[in-house]
Amino acid sequence: MRRKLTRLSWIPLILTLPYWLPSLVIRLRMWLFTKVNGEEGLQLPNDKIDATRFKQIYGHKNAAGRSQGAALSDLFWYWLSPGAEMHQEHIENGERYEYVARMTREILAVPANRIEALTEKCMGNVLAEKLSRPWQVVRLRDLLMPVWAEFYYELVFAEQCPAYARQLIVGNASDVVNALKGCSLRHMPRRNRLTRFLEKKLRQGAFGRAFPTDFTVEEQAFYLQGTYFNTAIVQMSEAVAHTLLAVAQHPQVQERLAAHTDDEHYYDLVVTETLRLFPLFGIAHRITSGDIVVDDETTLPRGSVLCFNYPAYHQTGYDRPDTFLPERWEQLSQKEAHYIPFGVYGNRSCPAQRIALISMKKAAQIMLGQFQLYSSASHTRSMPNRAPCLVVAREARLPYLARGSVLSLMKLQDQWEDVVRSIQQLFLGSFMVWHARQLKLAENHFANTVS
Ligand code: HEM
Repeated sequence: MRRKLTRLSWIPLILTLPYWLPSLVIRLRMWLFTKVNGEEGLQLPNDKIDATRFKQIYGHKNAAGRSQGAALSDLFWYWLSPGAEMHQEHIENGERYEYVARMTREILAVPANRIEALTEKCMGNVLAEKLSRPWQVVRLRDLLMPVWAEFYYELVFAEQCPAYARQLIVGNASDVVNALKGCSLRHMPRRNRLTRFLEKKLRQGAFGRAFPTDFTVEEQAFYLQGTYFNTAIVQMSEAVAHTLLAVAQHPQVQERLAAHTDDEHYYDLVVTETLRLFPLFGIAHRITSGDIVVDDETTLPRGSVLCFNYPAYHQTGYDRPDTFLPERWEQLSQKEAHYIPFGVYGNRSCPAQRIALISMKKAAQIMLGQFQLYSSASHTRSMPNRAPCLVVAREARLPYLARGSVLSLMKLQDQWEDVVRSIQQLFLGSFMVWHARQLKLAENHFANTVS
């Protein structure tokens, strides 16, 4: 009898796993990461330098180094491989950076009506292909990746994206984002296949712009891959998935958006609030190229690694910062609030801000015009569950009881997946941090570069 009782006492522990194990594993993961990676970097804001100084330091002319001199860069380069040295975000200031940044600005300078038309076309293709049933459960991030693959392929090569190219681009982008979140290991052959494909396109003259003659074809392919077929796809899929998931979980917001798909102003508020509560960047880092004097008592010496914590900054200075409240932006100015979803103007902020906001809004309008969304899954900034969502065509009828059952099952599945995933992230993430420290991609690159 006693033995039976002891055996039974495990049951509550097992049943409550989803409530305590994932957070415990996250703490353990952070501890392990610090052990492997070392305690590099000053997080901002912190107890000494509060949020009121954050923008001043981020925008400082000496917060200028991108990758050289920080062990943290080895990690970013590992996840962004191949060719992180040609990713605009990671090129140090100088001639090469200026050239690449100008080319990106030119490619992204597209009139608003063209951006909207292209979004409409790509959303139309993918929704018709993937959402043909009256209702179905999808992962929003996966649903959206092909949309942005088609969009950016057409923007770069000025031709419709063929199916095999879409497959290569989605394969590359999902591999990057899944590895970044510790949900799977890197699969370099998959990423290299896209590089070879882009090299072939470049050799055929399919890219209508000229690079400087000292850029090899491989470097040109790395630039295209990094910005348009990795960052653009990942960021856009996550940004729209966050928006739709937030809307799915706030029925009143959804009702208003669906009833007025032409209410540009309210769509803007919803997108703004989504990017506040779920900023796509967790941390951006800079290496100081000279001292930064914060005040009479604090100076950040040259060579410091500064880690700008976006979610922490976006939580300061708001009433009920944890609540999704698009209406708060009726009263607030983005410039005055603690709000930098696209970085800090003057220090390499996102060149795609305009195109991203226009296409995010358009994608949300199209989706909500055609479908009702429901989700009981957890919504966190890193979104490792890829945003499960019940999508019901507007003209279809799903009885209340059936919808309730689907949502209960979704919640249960999400909670148990979280348990398994957190353990997986612990092991895979720790392995990748260790592996990145062995490869030292950034450190070796700068050691071999004559400056
Ligand atoms: C909603 C979507 C997006 C968000 C929230 C976002 C956010 C950001 C942020 C915060 C930065 C600055 C990071 C830092 O200070 O180190 C950044 C930089 C960058 N983003 Fe985006 N991004 C988005 C979409 C895109 C897209 C679609 C592209 C490509 C077409 C893109 C390309 C870049 C590049 C190339 C940089 C580096 C800029 C430089 O160092 O000169 N982003 N992004």
